[in-house]
Amino acid sequence: MSSAPSAPPALPPGLDLADLERVACTVAREAGRLVLEDRPRRLGTSSKSTRTDVVTEMDQRSQELLLDRLGALRPDDGVLGEEEGGRTGTSGVTWVIDPIDGTINYLYDAAEYAVSVAAVVGDPARPGAWRPVAAAVLGPPSAELFHAHLGGGARLTTPGGSRVLRANPVTDLGLSLVGTGFGYDAALRERQARALVELLPRVRDVRRHGSAALDLCAVACGRLDGYYETGLNAWDRAGGELVATEAGALVGGEVGGVTTRDLTWAAAPGVAEELAALVRELSARHVGSVGDPA
Ligand code: IPD
Repeated sequence: MSSAPSAPPALPPGLDLADLERVACTVAREAGRLVLEDRPRRLGTSSKSTRTDVVTEMDQRSQELLLDRLGALRPDDGVLGEEEGGRTGTSGVTWVIDPIDGTINYLYDAAEYAVSVAAVVGDPARPGAWRPVAAAVLGPPSAELFHAHLGGGARLTTPGGSRVLRANPVTDLGLSLVGTGFGYDAALRERQARALVELLPRVRDVRRHGSAALDLCAVACGRLDGYYETGLNAWDRAGGELVATEAGALVGGEVGGVTTRDLTWAAAPGVAEELAALVRELSARHVGSVGDPA
């Protein structure tokens, strides 16, 4: 099991969180434009952890663009990305980036994928030792940009305007729409399916959209009442978890309000306690520890 820290990591002095949010939005938009406009008809892919877990040439190119642009705009910050590359910094801020979250949707030219960019403080390589402080999650095909900074609220900006996000006022878990997702390892998927069999009769229905970052933003904007998943990496969840929290959703893991690789859940406040208790119990009983990284 991952262990949670007793206190959240402190903010480096003088950090301008609104500026970090602007940087996140700028680079997410640039990477979003690249993956949307330069997507070749035949995507080059190679496999990663399993045969079904692929990286496309555009995941790599998007990560390279994000590394370059963050290096230009925030040269003292570190970067931890899903794909190859990354660097350590000196400022106390690390950008945790998923150049394409929802790669399988992208591979099939389905719309639900995202570029997720989060500024975090603490050590994103250590479970429970970091927290996001500014973020942008962009759905390139929809041009929906979800963004937030700590204490500043969450917003959805589209070409048509911008609005503040609030999680749903739902209070009945049995009437709640809950999202989830699955890992790439066959044995893990079998355990996740067992947990799902017990959850499904207890909620209104379940959705598997295929992008954890967008699922967390869906809780923020009321398209889902709750979401949970086991096996998420920091880059899958860092951006969306801040957007959800800033929209008034509750977010956590096996204990307390810290998401981990072993469990990440997010829910509208009126059903959060009940959903958290349920998914904690089901994932402990069926899924167990997924292990490192953070
Ligand atoms: C995946 C997506 C998916 C989730 C998987 C993630 P990727 O990220 O977020 O929704 O179910 O657990 O690995 O591989 O597309 O960046």
